[in-house]
Amino acid sequence: MDLVVNGASRRIETDPERPLLWVLRNDLDLTGAKFGCGEGQCGACTVLIDGVAHRSCLTPVGSVAGKEITTVEGLADGERLHPVQQSFIDCDAMQCGYCTPGMIMQSVALLRKDAAPSESEIKQQLEGNICRCGTYNRIVAAVQKAGQAMASQAKERSHA
Ligand code: FES
Ligand code: FES
Repeated sequence: MDLVVNGASRRIETDPERPLLWVLRNDLDLTGAKFGCGEGQCGACTVLIDGVAHRSCLTPVGSVAGKEITTVEGLADGERLHPVQQSFIDCDAMQCGYCTPGMIMQSVALLRKDAAPSESEIKQQLEGNICRCGTYNRIVAAVQKAGQAMASQAKERSHA
């Protein structure tokens, strides 16, 4: 089956019912998406499929053939981190970091739809992403800061 992961075509041989998470981690060595619950309850495995956040632990790989899959490894532009990644660092929005890739991917999906979400909208969108270290307040601050950075980058591009 042919997958498109972080902009590159990847050919794999596998059972189409296997969860995408295991294909990413074990077949393609993309270990950014994490295994937390395996039941769609924690968000640690979140990736984007055609720009929409999905739980890769519950996504049969056969259902995403030919779709655009983006993992946390595919966000940076060369050496330049994605604004959401940079904001998580700037706001110190992580402790152990286990939830961070999923939080970042869920936040990217949110900010692509709305670069200036309110605090309550951010909390609502990230509700299904669990942080055992309890860094929620700093995560919300990071998402808001990232939204501002993405909006000013978009403005710069429109004036270029
Ligand atoms: S591992 Fe997928 S939601 Fe928890
Ligand atoms: S930073 Fe440890 S689980 Fe979120």
